[in-house]
Formats: sequence, C-alpha cells, structure tokens
Amino acid sequence: MNDGCVVVTGASGYIGSHIVANLLLKGKKVRATVRDSQDSERVGHLKEMKISENGSLEIVEMDLFDRDSVDLAISGATDVIHTAAVVIVRSRNPQEKIVDPSVIGTRNIISAIEKSGTVERFVHTSSTAAIRPEEWKNGEVLTTETFAKDATLEQNPYGLAKYSAEMVVRDWHKQKNDLKKPRMVTIHPCMVFGPPLSPRHLRGSLSIIMMLVNRELPVLLPMQISIVDVRDVAEAHVRALTMGEDGGRYLTVAGEMMWSDISKILKREFPERKWPFRQLSYYFALIVCAFHPRVSVSWAKRHLKNKLYWDATPAEKDLKMEWKSIDETLVDTIPNIINNNWDK
Ligand SMILES: NC(=O)c1ccc[n+]([C@@H]2O[C@H](COP(=O)([O-])OP(=O)(O)OC[C@H]3O[C@@H](n4cnc5c(N)ncnc54)[C@H](OP(=O)(O)O)[C@@H]3O)[C@@H](O)[C@H]2O)c1
Repeated sequence: MNDGCVVVTGASGYIGSHIVANLLLKGKKVRATVRDSQDSERVGHLKEMKISENGSLEIVEMDLFDRDSVDLAISGATDVIHTAAVVIVRSRNPQEKIVDPSVIGTRNIISAIEKSGTVERFVHTSSTAAIRPEEWKNGEVLTTETFAKDATLEQNPYGLAKYSAEMVVRDWHKQKNDLKKPRMVTIHPCMVFGPPLSPRHLRGSLSIIMMLVNRELPVLLPMQISIVDVRDVAEAHVRALTMGEDGGRYLTVAGEMMWSDISKILKREFPERKWPFRQLSYYFALIVCAFHPRVSVSWAKRHLKNKLYWDATPAEKDLKMEWKSIDETLVDTIPNIINNNWDK
C-alpha cells in the first residue's frame, strides 16, 4: 500500500540531512534511512528538526548492501531521494570502499523500487564527477551532455563510482517502457558548502573549509573551486521530484572562487580568527602535491592553474533555481563549526 512518504537515503549525511530538513518544513512525511539509529551524531540533528503541519519523521536503519533492509525502507513509499554513497576520492581498496557502495547500492535501490510498485518519483544524487572527463581544456564550460566515461579505478575511483551508479539508474529507466514507470531525475552538485548540521558533515566537501579553519596548511594551492550551497542542493532535489524533465540531468553550481579568496572572505567576516591566505606559485604547488598523501602530481597538473566551468542554466530554467551567493554560503558555513566547538 502507498503510504505517501518520501524516503531519503543517506539522511544522516550532509546533503541528506538538509533534504530531510527541507521536506519536513514543507510538511512532508519523511522516512530517513541511516546505518545506525543509536548514533547521536547521525540522528541527533534529525530528531531536532522543525516539522510543519502534516509532516512526520520516521528514522529507519538501512545498509545499501543489505537488500532486505533496502526493500523494507522503500516499501510503500511514493518518492525516493537517493543520496547515500561513500564520499571519498582515494582508498587502498577503491573497488570495495568507493565504487561498490555506489553501484551495488544503487542497483539494490532500483530493485527495491521495482518490488515496491508504489514509487512514482525518484531523484538520484549524482555529481559533477559523473560528468567531468579526465581531459578538459583550460576555460572549458562543461554541460550535462558530457559523461565521465573514461574514469578509471586507478585514476578516478570516485568519478567511476558516480558515473557507473548514474548509468545503473539511466539504463533501468530507459529500458522500462511501461506507462507507470517512475519519474526519474539526476542532480549533479559541484563542491557543496554551507551549514553543517553534525560534526560528521565536516569530513566530506567541508574538509576543504576545515583545512582553513584549522590552518592545516600555512599556504594554499592555486586552485579554483566550483561551489554550491547545501541548502540550494537540497531544494533542487526536492523540486526535481515534481519539476524538470523526466530523465533530466541537472547541474547545481552557483559559481567559482580561488581557494585563497575563500580564505580572504572568511578572514573579513571572522577577523578574530587566523586564516591562511598566501597562495603558492604553480611550480611550488606541484612540488607540495608530489609529497602530499591526499593529492597526486597528475591531479595537480590538471586542476591547478587550469579553470573549469559548469553550465547550471537548465536547473535555473526548469527547476527555477536561484543560487545563494558564494559569499553567503561561505559565511553561513562557519558559525555551527565554531559555536559547537567542532573545530577542536
Ligand atoms: N558533498 C559534496 O560536495 C558532493 C558533491 C557532489 C555530489 N555529492 C553526492 O551527494 C551525496 C551525499 O554526499 P554528502 O556530501 O552528503 O556525503 P555524506 O555526508 O558522507 O553522506 C553520505 C551518506 O551515505 C550514507 N552511506 C554510506 N554508505 C552507506 C551504506 N553502505 N549504506 C547506507 N548508507 C550509506 C552514510 O550514512 P551513515 O551516516 O549511516 O554511515 C552517509 O550519511 C553522495 O551521493 C555524493 O556522492 C556530494
């Protein structure tokens, strides 16, 4: 039986939590999936969220690798927003740790949607990583016409995970020709910043900001970062349930900024703290990357100095998105970190 609820997978996560908050404020019935419902860092902030009239929050345990738990979580739902994935770019075992959760996990989600027979709308969280090919030109503007088909396990396991999981969704949707097939949209955020709601949210994209907050590096790499606000990403997911093209692929990107300029904005707004803002020259940056455990020289050669842009106008047109300014996003990222002592 259809119970009219929206399932949000990965609801404890950074983007998932903001989607849950957005839906609850709109008075929706939300079923939030987490792997451990006893862990306060995963569920404490969800339980405190404001719920508008007619809304409700149910928290259920689900692991993407446990098919029974996935079937149970999706059973009876009308809407599914699938954000759960492992958001790391390097691992000693990239197949098992990065690719499998996305690909096997998404296959299990699709299988559960099929079994339920109640799901009418499905939004899948993809990424710019599913779009960006290994080779791109300085100044190039990428659109959703491009696919990261050449991502490899060795060079770009996260891109491979996001591209392959999206293909699982698209192949399923394409081959289904019955009239009752669920509506499907994929959302492709760039680097997501904005208020974290749990200390767990500092480990993914916000680790870039945490390097500034904790002054992990005395000098910064000359790196341009494409940025979008987590609250806008959440709104785009929720709108995509009912707006935009069926089968649509929407980039969510507000703009770009150099890492050192991000630090300058934070210094202006939070002058009582110390912020690194000296930028390394390109050649020094290459040397630093050669010795750094989290980046490689090949990554540095492609990403430092060269600038890549994204065309998010389809989301502005079809989903009627208006992006928060990057300044606002950056400034709003910091208070929860400082006020909760999450930087300690
Ligand atoms: N943050 C970004 O800049 C960014 C940009 C583009 C795309 N994305 C995509 O957006 C989505 C959410 O990212 P995020 O930044 O919010 O990351 P996140 O905070 O790490 O959230 C991901 C969630 O996935 C869940 N998860 C991981 N493995 C799972 C498994 N085996 N079974 C069930 N749940 C599992 C985790 O749940 P537990 O807490 O229960 O472990 C976690 O809460 C991902 O698909 C990511 O690829 C993120």
